[in-house]
Amino acid sequence: MHGTIAGLLITDLIQGRENPWTDLYSPSRVTLGAATDFAREAVNTASQYVDWLTVGNLEKDELVPVETGAIVRHGLMKVAVYRDKEGALQECCAVCPHLGGIVSWNDAEKTWDCPAHGSRFDSLGTVLNGPANEDLHSTAVAVARE
Ligand code: FES
Repeated sequence: MHGTIAGLLITDLIQGRENPWTDLYSPSRVTLGAATDFAREAVNTASQYVDWLTVGNLEKDELVPVETGAIVRHGLMKVAVYRDKEGALQECCAVCPHLGGIVSWNDAEKTWDCPAHGSRFDSLGTVLNGPANEDLHSTAVAVARE
């Protein structure tokens, strides 16, 4: 439908004819409602990345309970730390490989979930659901990228 409208509108614009949709589809149109929606979406987007600035859930890896995950800050890097049944710690970078949200531990599902767009990873960082199409990076890879 919009392709057809565009064809009619552009033809009229090129030929200098009046078209009732000119103002409605003008790239320079600004409405108060659109400005409010834009501001709301900008704040919502920014809020998805606030976790970059916060401290982790716990101060040290050693404090992570068995079969639980937590975000621990290692210097500038946030690390998703999971302690398995045997008590061994598994670490991966807490930065979602999709667009950089910081994952959080979902204790009910035992998964790492990204609040930005909903990607989910298992306790070891293997991607379960997109939009991310790769696993959480190992902490060694994350350090090399900094
Ligand atoms: S940044 Fe994590 S799903 Fe998009």
